[in-house]
Amino acid sequence: MIRFSLNGKTLEADTSPNTTLLDFLRQEQRLTGTKEGCAEGDCGACTVALLDPDAVGGPAWRAINSCLTLLPMVNGRTLVTVEGLSDGETLHPAQQAVVERLGSQCGYCTPGVVMSLFESCYRDDAASEAAQSDQMCGNLCRCTGYRPIQDAAKDVAGCRPADRFAAALVPAVTDPSGAWTRGDESWSMPDDWSVFFDAVEQEEAQIVCGATDLGLQVTQRGVRFSTLVSVESLPGLRDLHVDGDVVHIGAAVPLTDLERFAAEELPVVARMLRFFGSRQIKHRATLGGNLCNASPIGDMAPVMLALDATLVLRSRAGERELPIREFFLGYRQTALAAGEVVAAIRVRKPGPSARVGAYKVSRRREMDISAVALGAWVEVSDGLVIAARLGFGGMAATPKRASALEAALVGQPWTIDAVERLIGHLDEDFQPLSDHRGSAWYRQTVAKNLVRGFVEETEHASFQALPDRPLSTIVQVSK
Ligand SMILES: Cc1cc2nc3c(=O)[nH]c(=O)nc-3n(C[C@H](O)[C@H](O)[C@H](O)COP(=O)(O)OP(=O)(O)OC[C@H]3O[C@@H](n4cnc5c(N)ncnc54)[C@H](O)[C@@H]3O)c2cc1C
Ligand code: FES
Ligand code: FES
Repeated sequence: MIRFSLNGKTLEADTSPNTTLLDFLRQEQRLTGTKEGCAEGDCGACTVALLDPDAVGGPAWRAINSCLTLLPMVNGRTLVTVEGLSDGETLHPAQQAVVERLGSQCGYCTPGVVMSLFESCYRDDAASEAAQSDQMCGNLCRCTGYRPIQDAAKDVAGCRPADRFAAALVPAVTDPSGAWTRGDESWSMPDDWSVFFDAVEQEEAQIVCGATDLGLQVTQRGVRFSTLVSVESLPGLRDLHVDGDVVHIGAAVPLTDLERFAAEELPVVARMLRFFGSRQIKHRATLGGNLCNASPIGDMAPVMLALDATLVLRSRAGERELPIREFFLGYRQTALAAGEVVAAIRVRKPGPSARVGAYKVSRRREMDISAVALGAWVEVSDGLVIAARLGFGGMAATPKRASALEAALVGQPWTIDAVERLIGHLDEDFQPLSDHRGSAWYRQTVAKNLVRGFVEETEHASFQALPDRPLSTIVQVSK
């Protein structure tokens, strides 16, 4: 039995663990204000708000895509849908702003837009236009041309009305863990490692975390998992801290938390996360899920390869550490043994002589899959490269380092002229495929241009932060 709070009422549900939150709201609760557009996390029509007591910076309302959230994931939690916002006849400021700014025409996207605006009301870090644009980038609207929606966001971001939703943002202990079986489908979210290993060693056990990848199999392919086992509540999986010069990232830390934390502690990671999915996706997506999904076009693997991250893997036998360069074995194949999970990712902060960068090229700036991504780290001493790591996505069957180019760079000056002479080595490293995201020629050309851009950016500086509203993935540097 799942128990959670929905629009101020406690609900109990005993449905299949493969039921999405969206289907539960619309079909079982008849809360049809929440809409289904794409059922794959792209449009934001299904956005609802979840109270996360453990967010970095304190308890927070988080806009999430209900179409990809499996119902058991909200066990023990507090949820609000568009139906729960107004106070009698008085609209919530997020709703009022949409009315006043004429932010709704056909209205299909409006409930989702309102729920993203709702989150922004209670944020303390959404004052800039860029943060407001990022807040809304997971909500598509075919009618209003966005300007009115952006105006509404400007009106309400950080307004923090003194209401019941603000009052709910207090530290609280919630317990989302639990287990149950319905028919031949089971769900468990253990908060104890040995219970977890018992569950995960079952035949057909399927590990899940945020479900922003796995959920697509349910909504797009009609898969019904028989034995879902979530890592989300395991002890230590949401740890996020710095120990000396090592950043420790629990595998289940939501990417919005990582983005906020990394802005100070590991800016190159925050730079890639700026171009990663939408806020709704990043509230549920995790670094562990991104790496274990092992997609050749996943965005965080290139950055982690460049930073030479260490994966902390855990199984019943104990813990072992694996350098990320040994993790990706083949197309969507990893070095994880049966019953083993990624518990954490450890990254050494780049030192003062390191040059670092992260780049993503996709057809649109926001909410798009990479054609090519690059994570880059080069150590320079007296103007010469002494070590280099260039991690690429979209160039091979796995995320992969450009070892021929890396070797050629060592001992050479870190200048655009030297890189230009050596850039041809990328042809030895990669023979990319042509597909609908780009031809082999396009990918090879973009990859070379990203390396050129990296040296342009970092010839005289260790790292360039992105401007608020970047026009391209490479920062324009004035010479
Ligand atoms: C609309 C949309 C936009 C997206 N945009 C991007 C993007 O810009 N860039 C990008 O790279 N990706 C993107 N993604 C993909 C996805 O959001 C990420 O890969 C995300 O990081 C997955 O994390 P998760 O926790 O949701 O993983 P899940 O879906 O829960 O799991 C993914 C896989 O990893 C396994 N797994 C999860 N955690 C662990 C663990 N700790 N140990 C072992 N195995 C584990 C699961 O068994 C599963 O096979 C997008 C997805 C959607 C739907
Ligand atoms: S229905 Fe489109 S994001 Fe959920
Ligand atoms: S108002 Fe019509 S889709 Fe946004």
